[in-house]
Amino acid sequence: MGPAFARLLRESDNEWVGSAANGSCCMFRPIGPACLVVTGAHERGATFEGLMLTPGPVMLTSSVKRAMWPDVGSRDRSFELLSRAFREQLLALANGTQDYEAIPVGGSATFAMEAAIRTLIPPREELLVLDNGMYARRVAEVAEQVGINVRHLPLDPRKPLTRSVLEELAPNIAAGSWVALVHCETATGLVNELKEFAEFCRGRGLRSLVDGVSSLGAVPIDLDRLGIDALVASANKCIEGPPGIGLAYVHKTHLAQRPKATGSYVLDLRRQWQSLSETDQWVVTPPTHVVQGAESALASLLEEGVAGRSQRYARLTDLIRSHLIELRLKPTLDRSHSHPGIVAVDLPPSCDYPRLHSGLRDEGMLLYHTTDVRTRSFRISVMGDVSSTDVQELMSSLRRVATNGARS
Ligand SMILES: Cc1ncc(COP(=O)(O)O)c(C=O)c1O
Repeated sequence: MGPAFARLLRESDNEWVGSAANGSCCMFRPIGPACLVVTGAHERGATFEGLMLTPGPVMLTSSVKRAMWPDVGSRDRSFELLSRAFREQLLALANGTQDYEAIPVGGSATFAMEAAIRTLIPPREELLVLDNGMYARRVAEVAEQVGINVRHLPLDPRKPLTRSVLEELAPNIAAGSWVALVHCETATGLVNELKEFAEFCRGRGLRSLVDGVSSLGAVPIDLDRLGIDALVASANKCIEGPPGIGLAYVHKTHLAQRPKATGSYVLDLRRQWQSLSETDQWVVTPPTHVVQGAESALASLLEEGVAGRSQRYARLTDLIRSHLIELRLKPTLDRSHSHPGIVAVDLPPSCDYPRLHSGLRDEGMLLYHTTDVRTRSFRISVMGDVSSTDVQELMSSLRRVATNGARS
């Protein structure tokens, strides 16, 4: 006899995940109108199965999971066509059909970032990193490892980059240098003004590298208008696909140039692009199931539209913000500077985050495991298959856990 069913956490076509009366999380498979069989029971602490409100990876819809079901040959024509369709859809998503190539790589977004740096920035060239969050520091670290001469400019983590900051910097940047910006700093949800940045770089003859990892799919990006040199993104955030690939968009002028040594066989965007554009084949074994899931997720996004997705997320984060007022918790950023799908919350001085996090986890609610160091905030994300009921449940749990001791 399995434990009694207490609460339905998630439902897909042929599987329900619930929390059982004894506190464990269970999978149930309906085998008749009212008949359930427990197919797996996981004690808390072993495998977590509940609501995931983390900014990637995200909870997947059942249609994305279904798309990952078939086993497909990596060199089979069907997978070649899928890869081609995926790259075309990526260009449509970011409006880059005219001037850009979309190049997926196996791994994660950081693999795509390292590949972009290796492929595009000559060794010992200067890269100025505009830093108002932890992912800018990640770009700087990756570039340093690759042997790039990094200049790092710390900025206020609660304020988006402004034109006046850029103007102040201008006299100290040599024409032709590279400048990196993170469009959305995921830890706080801070969204930087990409249009201003792109105009600034174009106007000064600077090369631009943008991390759009958490913005692509929910914040509009119009590559052909922006004219930036490269954008790195992820399929497992606002595209709502599975983790396992990183995405790079590269302006075609760079791919037409004479190749430079990248120092890596696999983190070489030109090699991957040549292979994909000439034969629709990936250079090395692609994560086939991941691409199948990502392509399905991307097709759903194109149907919903970036504006639609942004509004869906904003409805949920507005709900979170209204609950925060009741709980006397303060959002770290003003809504106008925030990603529609992320709310960062100032951690009250009396609150112990590891206790809050594990208390929520015990209730079947998974948040990101650490706070942002510079703003001392924790983040809630509604990217993925998250409903308003899920958000209500999270906020009820937050109320219980905060009242029962996470605040000392
Ligand atoms: C803005 C941003 N850049 C880069 C990364 C790194 O992505 P990955 O862990 O997929 O390599 C993340 C991950 O959350 C991110 O949010």
